Amino acid sequence: MGETVAIAGAGHAAGQVVATLRQKKFDGTILLIGEEPWLPYQRPPLSKKFLAGELPAERLHFKPESFYDDPGIAVRLGTRIDAVDRSSKTLHTADGKTLAFDKLVFATGARPRLLDLPGVDLDGIHYLRTIADVTGIRKQLKKGARLTIVGAGYIGLEVAAVATQLGAIVTVIEMEDRVMSRVVSPQLSEFYQNEHSSHGVKLLLATGISGFSGDGQVAAVDLSNDGQVATDLVVIGIGVVPNTELASDAGLDVDNGIVVDNHCQTSASDIFAVGDCTHHPNDILGYRVRLESVHNALEQAKTAASNICGVDTCYAQVPWFWSDQYDLKLQIAGLSRGYDQVIVRGNPDSRSFSCLYLRDGQLIAVDAVNSPKDFMQSKKLIAAHSVIDPEMLANPEIELKTMVA
Ligand code: APR
Repeated sequence: MGETVAIAGAGHAAGQVVATLRQKKFDGTILLIGEEPWLPYQRPPLSKKFLAGELPAERLHFKPESFYDDPGIAVRLGTRIDAVDRSSKTLHTADGKTLAFDKLVFATGARPRLLDLPGVDLDGIHYLRTIADVTGIRKQLKKGARLTIVGAGYIGLEVAAVATQLGAIVTVIEMEDRVMSRVVSPQLSEFYQNEHSSHGVKLLLATGISGFSGDGQVAAVDLSNDGQVATDLVVIGIGVVPNTELASDAGLDVDNGIVVDNHCQTSASDIFAVGDCTHHPNDILGYRVRLESVHNALEQAKTAASNICGVDTCYAQVPWFWSDQYDLKLQIAGLSRGYDQVIVRGNPDSRSFSCLYLRDGQLIAVDAVNSPKDFMQSKKLIAAHSVIDPEMLANPEIELKTMVA
């Protein structure tokens, strides 16, 4: 009998660890343990087609149920791991079981950042991270319902787009003075603000909230400026925090994520970590990051599983992300932090354009709106650390792929 690889968490990254172990002919036992009652599923559609009711839950599955129907795979769903004992190489679950492992992969992901304000526990106030969360939101998200969204990031704006299309009356409250400020330039924020306003979304920017009012059920969001927004339901999307407690309690290094090297190995040999919960080096970017990204989750999962199988593999990827709002597909490659110049390529009025971010003349990131070609080609230029004449970049007549330095 081969060794046992236990995977803590059963999300997207965990599913890919199982798939790659299988693909690399791992011949031991794979033990997949997840707190949610679902097999690994894709989260991105939750705030998009699944919320819109256009995708049944079964279609969210990363792999069909039959994939796990394998004598070498043991799945324990609805099971929370309470502790990892590194000396005895065992896991302790909330239902009192002790499970042995030879190698362990943390794929514990992230959880919504919680708002700590009066009234936040009233009925009708939701976060959005799981199938169960969306099922709860959908029950209340009817035509004519007044929905208030807290946070104008990916989650908030994707929910706003779906909800208006379902006939809800939507208000978005954002504490910064523009939407998606964490990830995009002011130019792109303005474009998306106009888009949401034109669909009837009321945006309250630079607005704080002080709590929620209601008798059992939420009836209003209280603003810091003493105003109120009458509401039937609330969705809070103010970011996520990595699930690192299990790892830090086990004595692993944690610093804004479980610290791993470019093999996805933690500070302990035989323990790996993948996905949103990791703080990892990225040789292309030249610094360490924690990413909330499906692509990163999948690539780190492949890296960890390959190394477990003895295939020496290093992770080095240009990060990328996407967001669907209305008929707009936003694709982001690279990280724009520290940029000193933004080039707008194409005309935003055409609803197909890109923002290109430069630092010291080097292309470091792109936000492409309905421009898959710019996205694909920029990704290569970013990986190549290309320094490109801004005037050329701004000219949509010249294809980016011809600009390799
Ligand atoms: N009141 C109003 N807005 C707030 C508050 C607050 N108290 N706190 C934070 N915000 C705003 C931030 O300024 C930011 O614009 O909430 C927004 C959160 O946006 P993101 O960081 O993009 O987080 P979120 O939209 O929750 O998405 C979380 O889920 O879609 C996935 O992986 C994706 O990283 C993403 C994650």
